[in-house]
Amino acid sequence: MKHLIVTQPTQPDAAFDDLVQAALDARARAYAPYSHFLVGAALLADDGRVFTGTNVENATYGLTICAERTAVVKAVSEGVRHFKAIAIATDHDPPATPCGMCRQTLAEFALDLPIVLANVAGRRVQVHLGTLLPHAFRPSDLLDRPASKSGSTP
Ligand code: THU
Repeated sequence: MKHLIVTQPTQPDAAFDDLVQAALDARARAYAPYSHFLVGAALLADDGRVFTGTNVENATYGLTICAERTAVVKAVSEGVRHFKAIAIATDHDPPATPCGMCRQTLAEFALDLPIVLANVAGRRVQVHLGTLLPHAFRPSDLLDRPASKSGSTP
Protein backbone atom coordinates (compact mmCIF):
# COMPACT_ATOMS: atom_id res chain seq x y z
CA MET A 1 0.00 0.00 0.00
CA LYS A 2 1.33 3.44 -0.90
CA HIS A 3 2.65 5.85 1.71
CA LEU A 4 1.63 3.75 4.68
CA ILE A 5 4.08 4.63 7.40
CA VAL A 6 3.11 3.88 10.95
CA THR A 7 5.72 4.18 13.63
CA GLN A 8 5.18 4.16 17.37
CA PRO A 9 6.14 7.11 19.57
CA THR A 10 9.82 6.85 20.34
CA GLN A 11 11.93 8.01 23.25
CA PRO A 12 12.53 11.76 23.07
CA ASP A 13 15.85 12.34 21.35
CA ALA A 14 18.28 14.49 23.36
CA ALA A 15 19.63 15.78 20.06
CA PHE A 16 16.44 17.81 19.80
CA ASP A 17 16.84 19.62 23.14
CA ASP A 18 17.81 22.91 21.48
CA LEU A 19 14.97 22.58 19.00
CA VAL A 20 12.48 22.10 21.82
CA GLN A 21 13.87 25.15 23.60
CA ALA A 22 13.51 27.18 20.40
CA ALA A 23 9.86 26.10 20.16
CA LEU A 24 9.26 27.03 23.79
CA ASP A 25 10.91 30.42 23.25
CA ALA A 26 8.81 31.00 20.13
CA ARG A 27 5.66 30.11 22.04
CA ALA A 28 6.19 33.18 24.22
CA ARG A 29 5.78 35.31 21.08
CA ALA A 30 2.48 33.74 20.01
CA TYR A 31 -0.35 36.10 19.12
CA ALA A 32 -3.39 34.33 20.54
CA PRO A 33 -5.65 36.92 22.20
CA TYR A 34 -8.81 34.92 21.39
CA SER A 35 -7.99 31.32 22.25
CA HIS A 36 -5.19 32.06 24.72
CA PHE A 37 -3.71 28.80 23.41
CA LEU A 38 -0.09 29.73 22.75
CA VAL A 39 1.81 27.54 20.31
CA GLY A 40 5.47 27.67 19.31
CA ALA A 41 7.16 25.65 16.59
CA ALA A 42 10.78 25.20 15.60
CA LEU A 43 11.59 23.59 12.28
CA LEU A 44 15.10 22.19 11.79
CA ALA A 45 16.34 22.37 8.21
CA ASP A 46 18.83 19.95 6.66
CA ASP A 47 21.40 22.74 6.59
CA GLY A 48 21.08 23.21 10.36
CA ARG A 49 19.07 26.41 10.28
CA VAL A 50 16.07 26.64 12.58
CA PHE A 51 12.89 28.41 11.51
CA THR A 52 10.54 29.26 14.32
CA GLY A 53 6.85 30.03 14.17
CA THR A 54 3.94 30.95 16.39
CA ASN A 55 0.23 30.92 15.92
CA VAL A 56 -1.02 34.29 14.71
CA GLU A 57 -4.72 34.69 15.37
CA ASN A 58 -7.09 37.11 13.72
CA ALA A 59 -10.30 38.80 14.84
CA THR A 60 -12.05 37.06 11.94
CA TYR A 61 -10.92 33.74 13.48
CA GLY A 62 -10.73 32.00 10.09
CA LEU A 63 -7.55 33.80 9.11
CA THR A 64 -5.63 32.36 12.03
CA ILE A 65 -2.41 30.62 11.04
CA CYS A 66 -0.91 27.90 13.18
CA ALA A 67 2.63 27.95 14.54
CA GLU A 68 3.76 25.01 12.42
CA ARG A 69 2.60 26.55 9.17
CA THR A 70 4.18 29.87 10.09
CA ALA A 71 7.50 28.04 10.46
CA VAL A 72 7.11 26.19 7.16
CA VAL A 73 6.17 29.36 5.29
CA LYS A 74 9.15 31.20 6.76
CA ALA A 75 11.53 28.43 5.71
CA VAL A 76 10.18 27.88 2.22
CA SER A 77 10.06 31.59 1.51
CA GLU A 78 13.76 31.71 2.43
CA GLY A 79 14.47 28.97 -0.12
CA VAL A 80 14.66 26.07 2.34
CA ARG A 81 12.61 22.94 1.59
CA HIS A 82 14.40 20.05 3.28
CA PHE A 83 13.82 19.38 6.95
CA LYS A 84 15.10 17.08 9.68
CA ALA A 85 12.59 17.61 12.48
CA ILE A 86 10.03 19.92 14.02
CA ALA A 87 9.36 20.69 17.67
CA ILE A 88 5.98 21.98 18.78
CA ALA A 89 5.43 23.56 22.19
CA THR A 90 2.18 24.17 24.05
CA ASP A 91 1.05 24.15 27.67
CA HIS A 92 -1.18 21.17 26.98
CA ASP A 93 -0.76 17.90 28.82
CA PRO A 94 -0.19 15.55 27.14
CA PRO A 95 1.64 17.74 24.63
CA ALA A 96 -0.65 18.75 21.76
CA THR A 97 -0.32 17.27 18.29
CA PRO A 98 -0.41 19.39 15.12
CA CYS A 99 -3.79 19.99 13.47
CA GLY A 100 -4.70 18.26 10.22
CA MET A 101 -3.93 21.28 8.08
CA CYS A 102 -0.43 21.52 9.53
CA ARG A 103 0.16 17.78 9.07
CA GLN A 104 -0.73 18.13 5.39
CA THR A 105 1.48 21.21 5.00
CA LEU A 106 4.43 19.36 6.55
CA ALA A 107 3.75 16.33 4.31
CA GLU A 108 4.31 18.54 1.28
CA PHE A 109 7.98 18.77 2.23
CA ALA A 110 8.74 15.74 4.40
CA LEU A 111 7.25 12.28 4.39
CA ASP A 112 8.22 10.97 7.78
CA LEU A 113 9.53 13.94 9.71
CA PRO A 114 10.29 13.37 13.40
CA ILE A 115 7.94 15.55 15.44
CA VAL A 116 8.80 16.42 19.02
CA LEU A 117 5.70 17.39 20.98
CA ALA A 118 6.65 19.31 24.08
CA ASN A 119 4.92 21.20 26.84
CA VAL A 120 5.91 23.87 29.30
CA ALA A 121 6.00 21.32 32.11
CA GLY A 122 8.90 19.56 30.40
CA ARG A 123 6.96 16.61 29.04
CA ARG A 124 7.95 15.36 25.60
CA VAL A 125 6.57 12.87 23.12
CA GLN A 126 8.28 12.03 19.85
CA VAL A 127 6.26 10.78 16.91
CA HIS A 128 6.64 10.72 13.14
CA LEU A 129 4.58 12.58 10.61
CA GLY A 130 3.74 9.31 8.87
CA THR A 131 2.06 8.11 12.05
CA LEU A 132 -0.02 11.24 12.42
CA LEU A 133 -0.92 11.40 8.74
CA PRO A 134 -0.90 7.92 7.18
CA HIS A 135 -1.78 7.60 3.49
CA ALA A 136 -0.94 11.27 2.96
CA PHE A 137 -1.70 12.82 -0.39
CA ARG A 138 1.73 13.95 -1.50
CA PRO A 139 3.42 15.87 -4.33
CA SER A 140 4.29 12.59 -6.06
CA ASP A 141 0.59 11.85 -6.41
CA LEU A 142 0.41 14.70 -8.88
CA LEU A 143 3.93 14.97 -10.23
CA ASP A 144 4.59 11.28 -10.94
CA ARG A 145 1.52 10.74 -13.09
CA PRO A 146 2.01 9.72 -16.70
CA ALA A 147 1.87 12.72 -19.04
CA SER A 148 -1.15 11.23 -20.82
CA LYS A 149 -3.19 11.53 -17.65
CA SER A 150 -2.20 15.04 -16.79
CA GLY A 151 -4.28 16.80 -19.45
CA SER A 152 -7.81 17.98 -18.82
CA THR A 153 -10.67 15.79 -20.01
CA PRO A 154 -12.36 16.88 -23.25
N1 THU B 1 -2.89 25.95 16.73
C1 THU B 1 -1.61 25.88 16.28
O1 THU B 1 -0.87 26.87 16.27
N2 THU B 1 -1.17 24.68 15.83
C2 THU B 1 -1.92 23.55 15.78
O2 THU B 1 -1.49 22.55 15.22
C3 THU B 1 -3.22 23.52 16.44
C4 THU B 1 -3.81 24.83 16.76
C5 THU B 1 -3.39 27.25 17.19
C6 THU B 1 -4.42 27.87 16.30
C7 THU B 1 -5.17 28.74 17.25
O3 THU B 1 -4.49 29.98 17.35
C8 THU B 1 -5.04 28.04 18.59
O4 THU B 1 -3.99 27.12 18.46
C9 THU B 1 -6.30 27.32 19.02
O5 THU B 1 -6.76 26.46 18.02
